[in-house]
This record gives sequence, structure tokens and C-alpha cells, in this order.
Amino acid sequence: MAARPLRVTGGARRFGARGQQFTVFEDLDLEVQDGEVVVLLGPSGCGKSTLLRIIAGLDQLDEGTVEVAPGEHGRDVGIVFQQPLLLPWLNVRDNVTLGLRYRANRGAKEAGLVDRTLAEFGLADLAEAYPSELSGGQAQRVSLARTVVTRPRVILLDEPFGALDPLTRRSMQQWLVGVQQSLGLTVVMVTHDVEEAILLGNRVALMSPSPGRICRTWSLGSDAGEPRQMATLREEVLRTYSEVASGGPLSAPDTALASAGAGGRGEATRPLPGVSPTQ
Ligand SMILES: Nc1ncnc2c1ncn2[C@@H]1O[C@H](COP(=O)(O)OP(=O)(O)OP(=O)(O)O)[C@@H](O)[C@H]1O
Ligand SMILES: [Mg+2]
Repeated sequence: MAARPLRVTGGARRFGARGQQFTVFEDLDLEVQDGEVVVLLGPSGCGKSTLLRIIAGLDQLDEGTVEVAPGEHGRDVGIVFQQPLLLPWLNVRDNVTLGLRYRANRGAKEAGLVDRTLAEFGLADLAEAYPSELSGGQAQRVSLARTVVTRPRVILLDEPFGALDPLTRRSMQQWLVGVQQSLGLTVVMVTHDVEEAILLGNRVALMSPSPGRICRTWSLGSDAGEPRQMATLREEVLRTYSEVASGGPLSAPDTALASAGAGGRGEATRPLPGVSPTQ
């Protein structure tokens, strides 16, 4: 039985002064299995970034619990934002090395680990380059390398490809699938792009606003059913998304999808996954 590295139970977060509080989300439950990729979708302001920040330990729940199974070095969660946030006066190698500066395990192995990570991320030739010399896609790869070099069990990605052009974005998505699978990473990713969610997720979770909640999830299994067009799932997710965004009631899940393949992240690397709405 796989370990359960991440679980949010009954999570609520409220902002504002007493008496004028507003609830960003409540009764929020999320469980992410070891090695799973869960993609969060939801209208602006429903609390996706707030949830990631809480899982990362940068903010706290007002109610409920967050459980992250400790890795080798304690609570092992890394977070990557939409902007790479590299230090402009450090070259690529030193920016990635910076990820290790705050770790208990820094020391003699540091240089070897950084160089290995640069190679894994296709950045070896850019090790001496400075951020101003990198393309957006390269800079975001450095940002991911800086997080992955610490070998976290869980990586949180908040719209990591949102600032990239469509072609770079596409190649980064394919690259991420490869890195995630080869390193066995557990990933929670936020995006506004339904296709990206279907392409990258083992599971897609849709959040509703006011207050935020995970109102529906779709599992993209690796072994269920016949291959079917990605468009079918995209249509169902978009329809549910628009119901959620307009505050209307949710229609029943499309049971026809329960045994349907959806295209998706497995296209390049494994058989087409099946899809089943799970809530
Ligand atoms: N530190 C804070 N203090 C007060 N309000 C906050 C704080 N952080 C977030 N909020 C509010 O919480 C709500 C959710 O914000 P959050 O950034 O999590 O949304 P989001 O789902 O990530 O939106 P987007 O898709 O636009 O990135 C927003 O109304 C935001 O203004
Ligand atoms: Mg956000």
C-alpha cells in the first residue's frame, strides 16, 4: 500500500478582522498519494494559491489539519511560483545551489548533487549563465531545479507555465511529465488551463468559490477503458467549470466518461489513461 504523503482534512482559511472575516475556503478535503500528480482548477480567488501556501507551511489553516509525511529531512515540500524568482546576480549553478543552503544535509555532497540535478534538468550547458541570459522556459526550469535539488517528497506548482508562450509551455509540460516520472515526484499543481490539467494530472480537482471547496475530481487512470478523445473530457471539465464559476448547481457527472480514455499525460510515455469522475 502506497504511503500517503499529503492530506488536508476539513481545511478552512479565513481572512480579515474579527467581525469582518471572509472565508476563502472551508470543509476542504484533499488527499494526494505518493507519486501522484493532482491538478487544481478553479475560478480566480477560490483559494488555490492560499491552499498551496498552507501545504507549503507558508500560511496556516484556521480549522482542520494538514498532514505531510516527513521525508528524509523533515517536512519535505517544495513550492514553485508562476515567476521563476531567480537571483539575478547569481549564475544558474549558484541559483540552484541556493536551494540547498537552507537544508540540513548541505556539505561535501552539495556540488555533486547540484551538477546531477542540472544534468537531469537539461541545464548543464547553462550552469554559468545568468538569469538575464535565459529564456522564460529555461528560467522556470532553473526554478524547478532549485526546488527539486532539495529532494522534497511533494512539489507544489502554482501556475508554473502561466507566463510562457504556447510552444515553450507545451515543451515544458512534456518535460515535466518526464521529470516527475523519473524522480517519482508527488505533485500538486495549479493551472487555469483545462488542457494542461488533463495532460499532466493523474487526477484533476475542481474548486468552487465562495467559499472554496473541492467540488469534483476526475481520475485519469492508466488502465481503464478504451482510448477516447481528450475533447470529451475537456468538454465535461469546462462545462462543470462554468457551472461552478456562475454559482449554479452542478449537473451530474458524465457517466459515459467513467470508462473512457482521455488522451492526456500518458500520450508520450504510457498507454492512454482512462477517466472516471470520482465525485
Ligand atoms: N494574506 C491575505 N490577506 C487577505 N486576503 C488574502 C490573503 N491572501 C489571499 N487573500 C484573499 O483570498 C482569496 C483567495 O486568494 P488566492 O490567491 O488563494 O486565490 P486563487 O484561487 O489562487 O486565485 P487566482 O486564480 O487568481 O490565482 C482572494 O480573495 C484573496 O484576495
Ligand atoms: Mg493563485
